Amino acid sequence: MDDFIAGLPKAELHLHIEGTLEPELLFDLARRNGVKIKHDSVEKLREAYAFENLQSFLDIYYEGADVLLHEADFYDLAMAYFRKASSENILHAEVFFDPQTHTCRGVPFKDIIMGLTRAKEDAKKELGISVYYIMCFLKHLSEEDAIATFQQSLEFKDLIIGVGLDSTELGNPPAKFQKVIQMSHEVGYRVVSHAGEEGPPEYVRDALDLLKVERIDHGIRSVEDKDLLQRIAKEKIPLTLCPLSNCKLCVIEKMEDFPLKTLLEANVCCTINSDDPSYFGGYIVENYKSITKSLNLSKEDLQLLAKNGFQASFAPDADKQKWI
Ligand code: ADE
Ligand code: ZN
Repeated sequence: MDDFIAGLPKAELHLHIEGTLEPELLFDLARRNGVKIKHDSVEKLREAYAFENLQSFLDIYYEGADVLLHEADFYDLAMAYFRKASSENILHAEVFFDPQTHTCRGVPFKDIIMGLTRAKEDAKKELGISVYYIMCFLKHLSEEDAIATFQQSLEFKDLIIGVGLDSTELGNPPAKFQKVIQMSHEVGYRVVSHAGEEGPPEYVRDALDLLKVERIDHGIRSVEDKDLLQRIAKEKIPLTLCPLSNCKLCVIEKMEDFPLKTLLEANVCCTINSDDPSYFGGYIVENYKSITKSLNLSKEDLQLLAKNGFQASFAPDADKQKWI
């Protein structure tokens, strides 16, 4: 089964580039940029990756991102991920980046997007991977801040396929970002949002009704609401699920509780993704392996999940047909 999983052609639709920062690279960049780190070794840093909930992870994740300062840092970070993705047979990746995490420390928007774009071009040339970027607004910050970020992005609009919403979910409902998301639709950005990770099913419903999102990132708490589940299936709204993430952030107690079968039985388009692999103990292959073992999945189940990844992507139909 492991060889089958490794060999499956896959798409990655839910991956935060900042969440691929491995401790080794984090220390290299800290040295290169003269940034001080709280932990004195790679091992000590890894030991700190024990999370109780989303917020306890986000605090460490934002601290880690402090080492990213220059165009070359974003290039190196993204290239390291694309090499890993290629080794796991990922053919297409739609990658989140969080500009506010960096611009608030004085990093120019241009340096972030140009570093990422150079990596995307090299990934295509050297590895044959197709990459799109999705810019996320941080939910714990104000909508005004998101609007300022949206405006900064417009100069680079051709380099960004769409926008998303991530970071602290509880207390930051979709309604908070209605205006900036409306503006994003108007300029032609595709729209996705994290919802129903820690937040209630109502947040998923509001992301659909108020924000008109095309995909829901996580969304597992939708299983608590039968009507919502039926609607997601009927409207063919894909969920970008991240099993290892949900375990590591204690959204579920153990992998056996991951509600994939309930979602599949309800006819929901489920995709498997890695979220923040450097922090959660594995990339896409590890995610597939973990659910296969805990939920006793068949090869047909895995084929369907991998196919859904391409189907739910923003790639043109011609590319999808080539991959599936
Ligand atoms: N940013 C990075 N990973 C995240 C997650 N799992 N949920 C919300 N925001 C995030
Ligand atoms: Zn995420």
